[in-house]
Amino acid sequence: SHSSISDVLAGKYPVESIITVKGWIRTVRANPNFSFINLHDGSCFDPIQIVADKNLSNYAEIMKLTTSCSLSVTGKIVESQGKGQSFEIQADSIEIIGLVEDPDTYPMAPKRHSVEYLREHAHLRPRTNLIGAVTRVRNTLAQAIHRFFNEDGFQWIATPIITASDCEGAGEMFRVSTLDSVNPPLTDEGKTDFSQDFFGKEAFLTVSGQLNVETYCCALSKVYTFGPTFRAENSNTSRHLAEFWMVEPEIAFADLATVAQCAEDMLKYVFKAVLNERKDDLEFFDQRVQKGLIQRLETLSETSFVRMDYTDAIEILKNCGKKFEFPVEWGVDLSSEHERYLAEEHVGGPVILQNYPKEIKSFYMRMNDDNKTVAAMDVLAPGIGEIIGGSQREDRLDILDARMIESGLNPEDYYWYRDLRRYGSVPHGGFGLGFERLVSYVTGVANVRDVIAFPRAAKSANF
Ligand code: 4AD
Ligand code: MG
Repeated sequence: SHSSISDVLAGKYPVESIITVKGWIRTVRANPNFSFINLHDGSCFDPIQIVADKNLSNYAEIMKLTTSCSLSVTGKIVESQGKGQSFEIQADSIEIIGLVEDPDTYPMAPKRHSVEYLREHAHLRPRTNLIGAVTRVRNTLAQAIHRFFNEDGFQWIATPIITASDCEGAGEMFRVSTLDSVNPPLTDEGKTDFSQDFFGKEAFLTVSGQLNVETYCCALSKVYTFGPTFRAENSNTSRHLAEFWMVEPEIAFADLATVAQCAEDMLKYVFKAVLNERKDDLEFFDQRVQKGLIQRLETLSETSFVRMDYTDAIEILKNCGKKFEFPVEWGVDLSSEHERYLAEEHVGGPVILQNYPKEIKSFYMRMNDDNKTVAAMDVLAPGIGEIIGGSQREDRLDILDARMIESGLNPEDYYWYRDLRRYGSVPHGGFGLGFERLVSYVTGVANVRDVIAFPRAAKSANF
């Protein structure tokens, strides 16, 4: 078996050990006496330097190697003379596993590629420094989220992808259909009868697991779901994907303050995890993508997040003297320019905005005593805007029904959800974290399309 390059560079093996590593060439410098090969295997940011000399039996072939050829190298670990590198390998043998067929057209020339270019080259994208680092940080964040909830007694619930209900009531659902597209069943008016969609019922891809996870919350007390969600919004922004991952905890016997605290604790926990576990990748982002990133994460993981009422935020925005594209009035839904002003310029860090007007929020949010606002909270982050949206849920059936009707929903379609309010209803609440927005925030990578393995968005889903 072979060793991972991260273990070798971290000093897991003593100097002089003979080991085997396998990976792909990042860069190579060859001359008739020596070749220096930087080999990476994705296990950490840095490649390891391999020194090959002319005594190797296949040295003639080694001299022809190019970027991205794959190798198995066996050799001795020695301390590196090069700066910034701990160890290197003096090769005893190099087995060439896969050659690059046409090195002249291979795109990983020393130049840097744009993220747009990479989105169209599936073989190349994950081998770049950028996507490699994003992938490892994303993994660390996901593992830390599961760990955070597990340590706090939450149960992970798998909520369905195929659903009949529109959780956000925003009409942004993708249809799931089993209908014969050539000869679909027709309504009396001669139109496609979508009510027959899913083996005789209408069905969609879920926009959120919240309504489903609430049923488990009202039985197991602390639960969360973490999986893919889908929104058919045809918007071409740096914050929207058609397929994105969402983390949705739901807590029983909880009010809005408990939900907001859970969001803050979770974010700090995962910031610390990345700082501890992925310093190598964060240093890359700090140097190449966003200066001061590490310092910012360190500060964030220690300081309390500011909480602010929507009503106060509107006053601040109205009186700040800044010209916004969309004017601000009590009752408007905040746009990203407003969210970013609050986070970036007013607070200078993340802010938890609470108690929004009911008209701009979903039917399931709990009505406050003022009858005008609901117990909602959004976490707004500098550079991005909303990364979390959550609320205390309406646990009183009569008010829930009234809100559903107001929002144009048919309460009968949600009978199973309403039943929770009829049989042992409890105050409860939760939130949804847009996982790609979190990865974007933590890495400084501006577009959510570049922090997911296979972006699905308007005009970008090639592979
Ligand atoms: O604010 P949203 O729509 O809230 C919900 O779906 C609730 N059911 C969550 C809950 O309370 N359990 O979405 C939650 C988060 C947003 O704050 C945003 O970060 C992210 O999901 N999000 C998107 N991320 C990428 N692309 C999109 N199209 C997104 N839409 C929402
Ligand atoms: Mg929202």
